[in-house]
Amino acid sequence: MVKIAPSILSADFSKLGDEIKEAEEAGADLIHVDIMDGHFVPNITIGPPVVKSIKKASTLPLDVHLMIDDPDRYIDAFAKAGSDMITIHAEASVHLNRSIHYIKNNGVKAAVSLNPATSLDVLDFILSEVDMVLLMSVNPGFGGQEFIPQTLYKIKRLKDIIRDKKYNVDIEVDGGINTHNAGDVIKAGADILVMGSAFFHADNYAEVIKAVRKHIQ
Ligand code: DX5
Ligand code: ZN
Repeated sequence: MVKIAPSILSADFSKLGDEIKEAEEAGADLIHVDIMDGHFVPNITIGPPVVKSIKKASTLPLDVHLMIDDPDRYIDAFAKAGSDMITIHAEASVHLNRSIHYIKNNGVKAAVSLNPATSLDVLDFILSEVDMVLLMSVNPGFGGQEFIPQTLYKIKRLKDIIRDKKYNVDIEVDGGINTHNAGDVIKAGADILVMGSAFFHADNYAEVIKAVRKHIQ
């Protein structure tokens, strides 16, 4: 079953707790939390104290996507804040193996993310160690961008590799996913869909989830 992870980046931050509760009631599987530092990406969002508050507002797992340079410096803080899964970018990590194991040693699931132009080759010697790979389908930094179509081929290739090796690794896809293209993303092999603007800018969150799930039958 494909999971849906609404990204709170597009939520109304003046009533974040209610937004998260509504997403949960609508049938979301995870809450995707985008952390941006103004260095790795040209935007700034939130830090560990906000993640800690979000944790209190939801029973859903928190899927924390670190779009920050030198992520090692903040793994402890985000783990302590209540992250259930921490994703770091391959492009931002110098010692990816060490960082992934550091996340897991904190009792948190560990994932690696690749920007749209980063080759799957960087996963060769880390894929067996991670719980999930997050493939970016936009250049990270902002919500509401257009899905980059080459991502579909990338998802398919990664799915084949994971199947061949019989690894237990989920593929999450993030950026520009809406009710229209969700079917293609699922067909290509995605296990988790992140949805920001297409989810939180909709009038009825449950309808969005229903429309995505329709693609699965
Ligand atoms: C982009 C973030 C995404 C973003 C997705 O840098 O990582 O999670 O919130 O938003 P949409 O679905 O609007 O592209
Ligand atoms: Zn994200």
